[in-house]
Amino acid sequence: MSILDIRVLGDPVLRNDTTPVAQITDDLRLLARNMFETMYVAKGIGLAAPQVGRSECMAVVDVDDNPLVIINPEIILTDGKAKAEEGCLSIPDIYGDVERAASVRVRAQDLDGQPFEIEADDLLARCLQHEIDHLHGKLFIDYLSVLKRRAALAKWSKNKDKYPRFVRKLEGELTRVSEHPDEEL
Ligand code: NI
Repeated sequence: MSILDIRVLGDPVLRNDTTPVAQITDDLRLLARNMFETMYVAKGIGLAAPQVGRSECMAVVDVDDNPLVIINPEIILTDGKAKAEEGCLSIPDIYGDVERAASVRVRAQDLDGQPFEIEADDLLARCLQHEIDHLHGKLFIDYLSVLKRRAALAKWSKNKDKYPRFVRKLEGELTRVSEHPDEEL
């Protein structure tokens, strides 16, 4: 397994739509394993393919020790509203409150190509919505009010020099302790 570089805000790959996965290949299985490895090292709870520079419609999540690969995921039902703070492995050290559906039903395929559905609420529902957004070029900062987004981007503009060419190398920051562990998606 390998730890992948994470693309950060400013890399156009984060704004692209992904391509539906038509066939489960060894390459895709390896990508999923490497994405889990990368996510765990980064202390995240979700990671989508564009965040590691890939175009496949796939993400990995792990909330409460429940690792899930979601391929071609779709939200098929939502219920309620909930607001909570989010972060993103592709926008390190930036956080903001985002209102999302309180619970969701998601249809996806697993690494065997088998369709499955998952019902989620609380943090898992938020994580799934955040990752599925990534698969369509959308980021959590897009939901912030104009003023809060402006403040977040101003803070980001001071940080972004740490990530030349929009690449975040995890090896260089393994000893860094996040001030908000377990909240970065
Ligand atoms: Ni994210």
